[in-house]
Amino acid sequence: MRYPIYRPRRLRANENLRRLIRETRLSTDDLIMPLFVRPGKGVRNKISSMPGNYQLSVDELVKESAKAADLGVPAIILFGIPEKKDALGTGGYKKGNIVTQAIKAIKSKVENLIVITDVCLCEYTDHGHCGVVKRKRGGKDFTVDNDATLELLAKMALSYAEAGADIVAPSDMMDGRIGAVRAALDENGFENVPIMAYAAKYASAFYGPFREAAESPPKFGDRRSYQMDPPNSDEAVREVALDIEEGADIVMVKPALAYLDVIYRVKQEFGYPVAAYNVSGEFSLVKAAAARNWVDEQKLVLEILTSIKRAGADMILTYHAMEVAHWLA
Ligand code: PBG
Repeated sequence: MRYPIYRPRRLRANENLRRLIRETRLSTDDLIMPLFVRPGKGVRNKISSMPGNYQLSVDELVKESAKAADLGVPAIILFGIPEKKDALGTGGYKKGNIVTQAIKAIKSKVENLIVITDVCLCEYTDHGHCGVVKRKRGGKDFTVDNDATLELLAKMALSYAEAGADIVAPSDMMDGRIGAVRAALDENGFENVPIMAYAAKYASAFYGPFREAAESPPKFGDRRSYQMDPPNSDEAVREVALDIEEGADIVMVKPALAYLDVIYRVKQEFGYPVAAYNVSGEFSLVKAAAARNWVDEQKLVLEILTSIKRAGADMILTYHAMEVAHWLA
């Protein structure tokens, strides 16, 4: 033993000592609140698998965003549910699309709030895949056309930047998308709009409730050909390296809780701002247990989010954001 007289328990004896020793501090400054926007007026549709979360029309979304800003939450991330879905996901990038309406309304009415927009086709395609799908005649087989998808993603990111989005966040996992989005932004005068890249995104069962929220479960097949295989972490490092090379400013690991080792590696390896997505399934598990009084919800949530930070995340996208901001206030 190198430190034979060290008595850790002495330092844990009381709360003030614990405060002095504490290495990681969770703060409202770390949090990003995901919000869902859909067409209509006065709409507040409950998402049954995600208690406390709603599909909101633009007017209601503005109220919710103002609440987030008042609580000191620095940023929200927007997901759109279009009027109509089609094979090419045009509802995600056509002129006047729902997300651009939302950005403009928030920007004109809410101060001091960063608006991030998710950039992906899956919420807007009728088949629910994140890209342009080519189906082999007759059978169940299909492929996702990577390069045809890039064009649409770049168009989408540009439409959000034009509407006033502060950050765009491509979440589709096509190869080369960060470069394509960066080029489109730069060519059109948005070189100062940062990209938050969903860099290491796993094909995860933890996204279940989100797919109800965004009405986006794939109608056939799954996303394993473009999202990462959960057993791999060297591959995550390579994915992050690619996105950084292509111009990502913030790199994300998703999901968070089952991938703390990946968060740790990515932070150690690159020293870049790391975002972690505490995804819908992680949220819903906590809510379901808390509703049965099986756990102390507040303690559990703070422990989970603090642990994600301890692993190396600089910021956390979480559906708990507004509640946590309230608790920490
Ligand atoms: C894709 C996207 C998804 C999530 C965020 N962006 C769904 C998916 O990849 O299937 C999931 C977030 C969550 O589960 O909370 N646009």
